[in-house]
Amino acid sequence: MRSIKEIEIEGKTLFMRVDFNVPMDQHQNITEDTRIKAVMPTLKYALDNNCKVVIASHMGRPGGERVPELSLTPVAKRLARIVEQEVIMAPDCVGPEVDEIVSNLSPGEIVLLENLRFHREEQSNDAEFARKLVSRCDIYVNNAFAVSHRVHASIDAVTRHVPLSVAGFLLQKEIDYFKKAIDEPMRPLVAIVGGAKVSSKLHAIENMLQVVDKLIIGGAMANTFLRSIGYNVGNSMIEEDLVGVAGGIISKALEKGIKLYLPVDAVIAEKCDARSESKIVPIQEIPQDWMALDIGPATSLLYSEALYDAKTIVWNGPMGVFEIDAFSRGSIAMVHNVANSYALTIVGGGDTDVVVHKAGETERITYISTGGGAFLYLMEGKTLPAVIALDAAEKNMETTN
Ligand code: 3PG
Ligand code: MG
Repeated sequence: MRSIKEIEIEGKTLFMRVDFNVPMDQHQNITEDTRIKAVMPTLKYALDNNCKVVIASHMGRPGGERVPELSLTPVAKRLARIVEQEVIMAPDCVGPEVDEIVSNLSPGEIVLLENLRFHREEQSNDAEFARKLVSRCDIYVNNAFAVSHRVHASIDAVTRHVPLSVAGFLLQKEIDYFKKAIDEPMRPLVAIVGGAKVSSKLHAIENMLQVVDKLIIGGAMANTFLRSIGYNVGNSMIEEDLVGVAGGIISKALEKGIKLYLPVDAVIAEKCDARSESKIVPIQEIPQDWMALDIGPATSLLYSEALYDAKTIVWNGPMGVFEIDAFSRGSIAMVHNVANSYALTIVGGGDTDVVVHKAGETERITYISTGGGAFLYLMEGKTLPAVIALDAAEKNMETTN
């Protein structure tokens, strides 16, 4: 795919797809604006080149309806504060009113379009909708890594309705960091995979088995692995249908000489509830009615030793139910372990970034991805739909020139 750096953008009208799907509280206050700040290098570059910038994003999953709580208006305000200039908030993302606003933009001005997913056609990758989105623009810039795994109109179809399609700095940077870690890693390369379900991470784990030296498992998914080697994990969450698959992963790791780590103790409770009494037990001693909700201190120590010689660490998924304080220690300890390592550390996906923020270690992690599902997609070894679309657009340009 071509980078925005490789083309002439002076004075052009850019359509920049970003992912401003940021968390908000019940009063529509933005609680975390990393995704907005992450777009700044590309946005500033466009403004310095006197571009007229049309920014488009989705917010939440309104399913094609106009849901007022999912308006991007609060994002426009935050963006204006960060970029220190006015941001025009458009009433919609397509239509005559929007076309007029875009046509009347002056160089260096920014308009933020309203939530793309207020239109069903966004998610159905509708060609006509895509054409309308960019009808007043010269260049399409994809800078939306976090949604680059979706085949949606503003990611895919749009590239077939505009003369030039390129990647922004954020999309490029995310992919480059990940590639650096996986394609030509400094070894030992360690993958840490956590989260609730083996099923949602299965392809990522299988792909990681092709490249890593060590694999560390945490979160509720560890229960399914422990069951596969005969442990009785009480009332812990288990995916019965994947016990065999988990066992297969352990055998494969052994065969390949990959060091695989599972929890040796757990923080347990009778219910997944902040009020529930909790205690720490070895994995061998989980009572029948109790469930594992976090890794225990012995596991944290074991994992810190396993990370000791790591040169590259890729981490996706928390070690326990970190949203509840009593079950957050394992995830927080893991953040500190990763931060303390002398490795290139990349964190992304499945709330792992939230855990890093909570532990106050954002400065000591090499790279925190803005992507959740998109990061997992990369871990699965697949090519992102956004990249496929940009590559096709580039090929198309070469053949028509
Ligand atoms: C995300 O937050 O994961 C991205 O914005 C993608 O959102 P989606 O999962 O609703 O497509
Ligand atoms: Mg998601």
